Amino acid sequence: MSVERIDRVLNGEISDTPLSKEYATLREQLARCGTSTTVFDPKPFDKRAVEAAREMWRIRMEVEHRSTTVFAQLASQLMEANASLDAKAVMLRMAYDEMRHTENCADVLRAMGVEAKVEANVACAPLAVHKGCTPEQRALRNVIYTTCMSEMVAVARFVDSLDEMQEPYLRDRTRLLLADEILHGQFGFHYLTAWKDYLDANPDEVRLLERYLVHAFSVIEDMLAGPPARRIERTKDEIALGLPEPERSRDIFFQTMEHATVPGLERFGIDAGKSWRERRRLA
Ligand SMILES: [Fe+2]
Ligand SMILES: [Fe+2]
Repeated sequence: MSVERIDRVLNGEISDTPLSKEYATLREQLARCGTSTTVFDPKPFDKRAVEAAREMWRIRMEVEHRSTTVFAQLASQLMEANASLDAKAVMLRMAYDEMRHTENCADVLRAMGVEAKVEANVACAPLAVHKGCTPEQRALRNVIYTTCMSEMVAVARFVDSLDEMQEPYLRDRTRLLLADEILHGQFGFHYLTAWKDYLDANPDEVRLLERYLVHAFSVIEDMLAGPPARRIERTKDEIALGLPEPERSRDIFFQTMEHATVPGLERFGIDAGKSWRERRRLA
């Protein structure tokens, strides 16, 4: 379904009303790690590498903002699936985490000497409803896709980036994102644990999940792996600032699917390995 574009400027603005105080309280209470007092110093780095890093954080700001809409909608689907209260609350927390991540990206852009302004399409793409499925199946499918698959790849890429990058301010701000993304990546496996009895009692629902995964693995490969490309030799400045290498990012996608997502799902009696091997678009 196509959604009408809504082009606006995202700028991480905080209102001058009591809402800002309420938001500050939330931010403080739910932060998993503090930020250090380091500041970004562009001088040691090549100008082009710094501009490429700014662009990466601009893109990240839009993506984080969009992730909020995904988890906010998924919270409604969890309500329709009559999920446990904690699962619904944590899903809402995850939506809120992504809003904080948007603010973090805006902070980074300002720290890097540019305005935190990103022209973005702020239209909310509706979450898949998987017509004909039960509310339970619908929620399970979208939880697996968004967390066990998509967020797990984000976690692996942040870990890899932190392994290499040296610039202290950007390391600190990347660590702040990773601290939350770990929960986001694990959410689906916790959710499946909570639904294990349901899955054991409803083998037909498990078979439906396996069929869905054949399609979902193909979709996520197109969305996140990127096309095969020749490996690019990054400069030491690009590495220090956390700029990714496309072929390495692609490798991380496959390693995450094969060594984390698939075995993680198989623990719940879902034959995800077969779905992965047979992945293709289904009608
Ligand atoms: Fe995020
Ligand atoms: Fe996330």
